[in-house]
Amino acid sequence: MKKENYFITTPIYYSNDKPHIGSAYTTIAADILARWQRAKGRRVYFQTGVDEHGAKMAKAAEIAGIKNVKEFTNKRVKFFTESWNNLDITYDHFIRTTDEKHEKYVQNYLAKIWKKGEIYKGVYKGLYCLGCEEFKDRKELVDGKCPLHNSKPQSIEETNYFFKLSNYQQKLIDIIKSDDLRIEPQQRKNEVLSFLKNEKLADISISREKVEWGIKVPWDKTQTVYCWVDALLNYLSAGEKYWPADLHLIGKDIIKFHCIIWPALLLANGYQPPKRVFAHGFFTLEGKKISKTMGNIIYIEDLLKTYPSDAIRYLIFKEIYFGQDGDFSLDSIKQRYNADLANNLGNLVQRVSNMLVKYFDGQVDQVESSARELKQFEIVEIWEKLDQSLNQIKFHEALKVIWQLIDKANRYIEEKKPWSSDVSSQKLILGNLIEIIREIAEMILPFMPNISTNIQNQFKGPRIKAGSALFPRKE
Ligand code: ME8
Ligand code: MG
Repeated sequence: MKKENYFITTPIYYSNDKPHIGSAYTTIAADILARWQRAKGRRVYFQTGVDEHGAKMAKAAEIAGIKNVKEFTNKRVKFFTESWNNLDITYDHFIRTTDEKHEKYVQNYLAKIWKKGEIYKGVYKGLYCLGCEEFKDRKELVDGKCPLHNSKPQSIEETNYFFKLSNYQQKLIDIIKSDDLRIEPQQRKNEVLSFLKNEKLADISISREKVEWGIKVPWDKTQTVYCWVDALLNYLSAGEKYWPADLHLIGKDIIKFHCIIWPALLLANGYQPPKRVFAHGFFTLEGKKISKTMGNIIYIEDLLKTYPSDAIRYLIFKEIYFGQDGDFSLDSIKQRYNADLANNLGNLVQRVSNMLVKYFDGQVDQVESSARELKQFEIVEIWEKLDQSLNQIKFHEALKVIWQLIDKANRYIEEKKPWSSDVSSQKLILGNLIEIIREIAEMILPFMPNISTNIQNQFKGPRIKAGSALFPRKE
């Protein structure tokens, strides 16, 4: 039987910054789902990458004192590939918008729309936020500033090419309403629909006259392709073989690009929209917006000095309900690390392996489980719930049911007290616990791939060794 494809993406991040808990959040989420789909037998194509063109990048290179912007981006990209490798991200393709194949693809794609008469020349006069790389409407500003970047947008007047986005208003409403383009969570779908129903869509500028660093417009080399159009096309330029994408995972800050502009650009050339866009919330750090200027970004390379990858992958999803906004604090993740990982999971595994060594010299064939007694742990039901939660992208719920099982196993030890029972009871209790731990190890695989593999190896038999603490406590 041919395996079914599963095409999943993250945003491509601006590489003038380094991977931080924000970009890691979306990327780990995509990795969890990719691993989950692989475990279910799908042929997964998982794409991530970096966004390297545009005025923001050129300015960052200038500030760094590097004249050749490409040279600058070559230096920056390593931060992403390194952090993602250290976080065990199993992407299948890492795209850079400076890849030649991508650049050519963008030019051909736009040339086709141009030939269809869906692009025209005009003058853009208005405001531009460099942080967002986005033209802004006055209505979007707070005290004349972009609320996302807390900075005044630039006034711009230049000749641009415009895409007839206004032609797609009703079509977009139709595909979103019918879930041909499924937008989640529901609240986001409602927002997009109400925007489309209440505001008249304006045509959008898809090129810049005064920006050098980018892809040239193929029919007019004095113009550069607008970096967002360039960036959105990454999904297709490297993923056309798998199109339509099963899932674009994004943050709520870039919904308009992914749910309005992107599907319209696809429809313009006869492509299907992505099947599903899930926009998660934003988190703050100890109540404050995470930003470079505030100096409160938690970079992944720093976080990895304190916590192993598996712990990070667990903690940020246990801390914040995916989809909603949340707050993050180093203190609360430390407490959670000690409680959930060092205590609940770590102790369970260590206690059981130690007892097995103590009472049976670690010999797995000395103990036996009882299907009847294992029933109370509802393993089958938990697997079903896991599947349901992960299909709905509710990581929080998936982790909750796994940790309930871990708690139950720990309580089982306390109640049964194998240290004070006879040998035949010890055999049964430890036999059951081994089965449960093997299930738990498999359940945590998409979240904590290293620990999962370690536990599975440790408990494979024929002889289980006493293990050291999986997660040493943090003081
Ligand atoms: O927007 N909380 O790149 P970007 C949660 N290049 N998620 C966060 C976050 C936070 N505080 N901060 C960042 C761009 N993110 C474009 C994308 S795609 C065709 C082009 C995550 O580097 C979240 O996924 O600004 C958000 O959407 C993304 O980083 C923005 O990354
Ligand atoms: Mg951003």
